[in-house]
Amino acid sequence: MSHIYYFDNNATTRIAPEVVEAMIPFLREHWGNPSSAYSFGSKIAKHVEIAREKVAALIHAEAKEVIFTSCGTESNNAAIHSALMLNPDKRHVVTTAVEHSANLKFGEYLKRRGYEVTYLPVESDGSLDVHLLDQTIRPDTAVVSVMWANNETGVIFPIEEIAAICRSKGVLFHTDAVQTPGKVKLDVKTTGIDLLSLSAHKLHAPKGVGVLYVNRRVKFHPYLIGGGQESGRRGGTENVASIVAFGRAAELAISTLDDENTRVRCLRDRLEQAVLATIPNTTRNGAKEPRLPNTTNISFDHVEAEAVLKMLDQFGICASSGSACTTGSVEPSHVLMAMGVSPTRARGSLRFSLGIYNSEAEVDYLLKHLPPIITKLRAMSPATQPTPIVSADIPRVAHPQTVEAIT
Ligand SMILES: Cc1ncc(COP(=O)(O)O)c(C=O)c1O
Repeated sequence: MSHIYYFDNNATTRIAPEVVEAMIPFLREHWGNPSSAYSFGSKIAKHVEIAREKVAALIHAEAKEVIFTSCGTESNNAAIHSALMLNPDKRHVVTTAVEHSANLKFGEYLKRRGYEVTYLPVESDGSLDVHLLDQTIRPDTAVVSVMWANNETGVIFPIEEIAAICRSKGVLFHTDAVQTPGKVKLDVKTTGIDLLSLSAHKLHAPKGVGVLYVNRRVKFHPYLIGGGQESGRRGGTENVASIVAFGRAAELAISTLDDENTRVRCLRDRLEQAVLATIPNTTRNGAKEPRLPNTTNISFDHVEAEAVLKMLDQFGICASSGSACTTGSVEPSHVLMAMGVSPTRARGSLRFSLGIYNSEAEVDYLLKHLPPIITKLRAMSPATQPTPIVSADIPRVAHPQTVEAIT
């Protein structure tokens, strides 16, 4: 396979070689069912528990507070479902307009069943007005669910403050922390979180395994009802190889936190600054800080993001418009729309999300190919005249000045 220039780490991540190594024995040799009476199966249960301890360590939880699920989507659904089932008199949910569809669509589903869901608006920089959140909580609010960091802009919400508000009002607080491991320090105890979702494929482990943290003081009503796995909190035979992989990836995420916040942050900043400085009519979407160190979301006026992505793809470059889960849809990003970005500008927005496997040379490669693609598409756009690329003194980056550079 030719080299892939991968700038879509918020969509999914490459499985770390160490993680592949850790999971392979559980596909090849130790494939028994952990619930079996015989030792070939039952001895595997120990490895599920070791993985549980490792994931717990990532978020500073106790192992028994960690439930393995099938994905971040299931974890989010299960958290809100549990809060509603345990408080049948409370039929109101508070969330935000910029959540992942795992929350937004679940909210729509709940509304069709007679629940009330408030989607809090965000400011133009993607931040949340916590006073508004405070005022929105009612006596019949069962749960507040606010993501820790936004998958499209990387904007980080004040989770500790929100948790404190919820605690003072006696309302459960859930956070979708799917985008944070390895990028943000996660401590469920000091932040006072009741429920938290993770997904393994965002931290260099396989797809199809997630975690729901449930604070031990909080009751939990199962979402998947079946066998007695996960102490009766989630039916279904454990995805052992992927759970073991999640444990190994959690260890790695603790050790790569520094790299993400120094080297990867520098790469992201260099990419962002170079694009904004050299390509006219570009705007960063979302606050500069607090923001995930790996994410930048940029609007390119007078182009369609899908066309840019197709041309980048010809050079082996992977990026995203909106969130990966909505790619293919012609609708502009709901996150950018909630921030008041115009539909036209939102349609010309790209997300670049870097990761620990990205190098300087890869950023150089992207910066070499992106400007002429934008120039070419703008030249073809009926909305504008060709806009020349402005040369800037960005170290180590060769910027082709002409459209002819792309063939
Ligand atoms: C913020 C956020 N929440 C939830 C999910 C869903 O996770 P999964 O793909 O494991 O269902 C994603 C995936 O993109 C995400 O970015």
